[in-house]
Amino acid sequence: MASSRESIRSPYLPKLAELIKGQTLSSREKLFQLRFKDGSTLGHKPGQFVEVSILGVGEAPISVSSSPTRDDAFELGIRAVGNVTQALHCLKPGEAVGIRGPFGNGFPLPELLGRDLLFVAGGIGLCPLRSMIQYAVDKRDQFGKVSLLYGCRQPAEQLFREELAEWRQRQDIQLLESVDHCPADVAWERHVGVITTLFPQVQVNPDKTTALVVGPPVMYRYVVAECLGKGIAKNQILLSLERRMKCGVGLCGHCQINNIYVCLDGPVFSYEELGRLRETEV
Ligand SMILES: Cc1cc2nc3c(=O)[nH]c(=O)nc-3n(C[C@H](O)[C@H](O)[C@H](O)COP(=O)(O)OP(=O)(O)OC[C@H]3O[C@@H](n4cnc5c(N)ncnc54)[C@H](O)[C@@H]3O)c2cc1C
Ligand code: FES
Repeated sequence: MASSRESIRSPYLPKLAELIKGQTLSSREKLFQLRFKDGSTLGHKPGQFVEVSILGVGEAPISVSSSPTRDDAFELGIRAVGNVTQALHCLKPGEAVGIRGPFGNGFPLPELLGRDLLFVAGGIGLCPLRSMIQYAVDKRDQFGKVSLLYGCRQPAEQLFREELAEWRQRQDIQLLESVDHCPADVAWERHVGVITTLFPQVQVNPDKTTALVVGPPVMYRYVVAECLGKGIAKNQILLSLERRMKCGVGLCGHCQINNIYVCLDGPVFSYEELGRLRETEV
């Protein structure tokens, strides 16, 4: 009996999604709200990613930036750096992109229930972490203390400013923000210094805390040192890795480190797991 195309859906076959809204976040980043044309939902977990394609241009892995607890649409926060991402930045509402996924392991939700969450986001790292932050906000009673340390280079680079303002107002979230430097003619009332200089302001119960860290690779080593200094266990420091990817499903080997496929086994790894991968020096 011939199988229908749906029943043998290839992981290489993109589904069409329509751009509902694009919103400028900074001079380099935009947030895109998308919905599948066939009415289906993405069904992702926080921390997972999708492969986004534009016909005739190419495909790029992009983390899902919104929580599955919100709506039938999903959001992607994208920095314009190359062919695909620049083409995405030119997209108009109503136009379509191809989506494969969701892929990757995402954050280990069942293991995070009841724990204190210490989010550490550097720059565009807030895009992937936002899916888990929104999840924790929407299911606030399922988690202990929630803290977010967010650092970027300068005030103009802060992403999700309206949402940050909402989180700042909440009594049940501790939000600490920093910029590496602030131009003399820009008003900035919060901390100036690299993200690790925020750590002295956070009280951590090391037995209850999981740190969720996403940012530029250079940040990881220093943030991990701060987390360890607070007594957080190696297996409770979770980091999301970026590697060059093609297939996204463990078949092409582009993202391979030793016997690990970052697209399949990651992108979220604990610091303990990474310690076993000699290549991944954090
Ligand atoms: C799991 C995962 C999640 C991600 N999530 C996000 C996200 O949420 N938002 C986001 O904006 N980005 C995200 N990225 C990064 C994004 O996938 C890359 O920036 C991607 O390369 C963009 O594709 P592009 O075609 O626009 O740029 P590309 O054409 O791939 O170019 C991107 C940059 O890489 C350089 N480059 C290109 N090819 C190579 C090469 N072979 N070796 C070294 N450098 C090269 C280019 O010069 C350019 O500076 C994620 C990546 C991964 C793996
Ligand atoms: S991207 Fe192909 S194996 Fe990971």
